[in-house]
Amino acid sequence: MSTDRKIKIIDKKPKKSSFKEEILDGLKKKPKRINPKFFYDEEGSKLFEEITETEEYYPTRTERGILEKNIDEICTYFGMGSALFEYGSGGSRKTMIILDHCKQIKAYVPMDISKTALEASAEKLSSRYGYLNVLPICVDYTKPFDIPFLDLEGNIIAIFLGSSIGNFEPETASQFLWNTMKNLGPEDGLLIGVDLKKEISVLERAYNDRKGVTEKFNLNLIDRINREFKINVKKSDFKHMAYYNVEKGRIEMHIEVLQEMDLDLMGTLIHFNQGERIHTENSYKYTREEFVELAKRNALEMIKYWTDEKNYFCIFLFKRSKKDS
Ligand code: AVI
Repeated sequence: MSTDRKIKIIDKKPKKSSFKEEILDGLKKKPKRINPKFFYDEEGSKLFEEITETEEYYPTRTERGILEKNIDEICTYFGMGSALFEYGSGGSRKTMIILDHCKQIKAYVPMDISKTALEASAEKLSSRYGYLNVLPICVDYTKPFDIPFLDLEGNIIAIFLGSSIGNFEPETASQFLWNTMKNLGPEDGLLIGVDLKKEISVLERAYNDRKGVTEKFNLNLIDRINREFKINVKKSDFKHMAYYNVEKGRIEMHIEVLQEMDLDLMGTLIHFNQGERIHTENSYKYTREEFVELAKRNALEMIKYWTDEKNYFCIFLFKRSKKDS
């Protein structure tokens, strides 16, 4: 079904980051690092989609399987006229699984820092579900913010799927849970997907797929640096590296520099030793208990969880603890 409705984005005017400034800042640090948000240019977003299709990267398909298997039960938590709030404008297959089954949802509120991504998902879902009130909010949801008055009829279920919380440092994950809790009423819920701790070999394979898609995703940062700083450094001088750090409970991705070099980045000279690494991403894994504990510290009480047969991934439903309401 298509609609001619004009979708109005509620703009909280989030502060946008400058690629060049942040890359320079990160490369001046010891150890050098690049914020993983810079993976997602057009090419990087395509590559991420490709990663989710690789044999080794289990999180996306496992989470989807859990949702599909338990969707009837999950739907019972959405009241009549309820609203689906989505952190990150997924507009993806997983959001559609929920919307396809829970017809009592009357409003969809995607939240994202990127207006382009918001427009795309709002248009897509608005034309697929003609009856849905689509109210996108442009906001940096990693920082505290108040949800504007939206005149909603029913309860709110906020979703944060894909284990994106794993890419937050524990302190940021904790702040995110606290901020989210603050925006929930007594009848509302938070549905969140979390990748669980498991055998190291399974984890490491997921970030070192045989087709080399994750390698391309990581090294796409070198293409981006070449483009934005108008330089021409060879990608073959860099190597993708991903391993599990047991002590920290996280997969770490790095780019290893194979040749000693100096890069002139807009007049700033950055020196790289041979073998030096640029830290590009952390992907934290939790046990079920660890995550429930983290949520509890942020006044969130678990109502229910759903997992897969191998216990690889978990979808939790939390509500605001009574004592903090
Ligand atoms: C988006 N995020 C949950 C992915 C992850 O698994 O941490 C990003 C990713 N990086 C490499 N492969 C996938």
